[in-house]
Amino acid sequence: MARKPIIVRTVPALRKAIAQLRKRRKTIALVPTMGALHEGHFSLVRHARKRAGAVAVSIFVNPKQFAPTEDFGSYPRNFARDVAALTELGVDLVWAPTDAAMYPDGFSTAVLPDGPAKAGLEDTYRPHFFGGVTTVVAKLFLQVGADVALFGQKDYQQLKVVTRMASDLDIPTKVVGCPTVREKDGLALSSRNVYLSPAERQTAPVLYRVLKDSAARIKAGETIAKILADGRATITNAGFAVDYLEARHAETLEPVATYGDGPIRLLVAARLGKTRLIDNLGV
Ligand code: PAF
Repeated sequence: MARKPIIVRTVPALRKAIAQLRKRRKTIALVPTMGALHEGHFSLVRHARKRAGAVAVSIFVNPKQFAPTEDFGSYPRNFARDVAALTELGVDLVWAPTDAAMYPDGFSTAVLPDGPAKAGLEDTYRPHFFGGVTTVVAKLFLQVGADVALFGQKDYQQLKVVTRMASDLDIPTKVVGCPTVREKDGLALSSRNVYLSPAERQTAPVLYRVLKDSAARIKAGETIAKILADGRATITNAGFAVDYLEARHAETLEPVATYGDGPIRLLVAARLGKTRLIDNLGV
């Protein structure tokens, strides 16, 4: 039977557990999550196992990255199921801080990112989001002191923001992006997919189809502005409300006008009923 990971809920307990792991296995990989784990997270854990002697997974639904109108209260939580899955995957440590351990009374510091966090993508629609993410991820990096941390490319702008933040703050944890895991029909895995009704679930892969089609047309030399307009229309006609479909430079996230301005990343966000989905694809 697989051995259950050590579960810690306070910073002193975490420090002790990390010191013990360091003694035995030397290197540590961190997979930061908000729980409700799915195959996308499991794939990060598998990547992590290849990169370090021990794997730590953090589970913390971070209130600071949700606006008051968003789904913090209803965000899916299933700690027992998450721990069972992480046990099967051979994870060594689960860092599951209480709210008070992460943000004790009087907590009054924030990490406020610029650059990729102000690219005019997610930040336009969720202005509170990246400040909340960088504040908690900076804390997670400093708490765990991992050698490497694994993030999914599904949250592409987040990956760029966190990479920049770690570099700007001289945090030695190396940030690594891992490929998006998809359902057979192309829908990117997300903890929020559980919100989709059966009919919406049928519609949802339209986003990936538009990304793939747009990438092929960009490579074929068609005009990017026209491709994006067509893509937005297709997504809208399928029943979504589009927040954005954009072609950006894959590293700087600056807008691009032609294939030659690349490498290009296509990024999309759209709402289907009550569910907001995001996805992206390299060209
Ligand atoms: O991508 C997520 O699940 C979250 O934004 C993260 C990185 C765990 C920070 O709360």
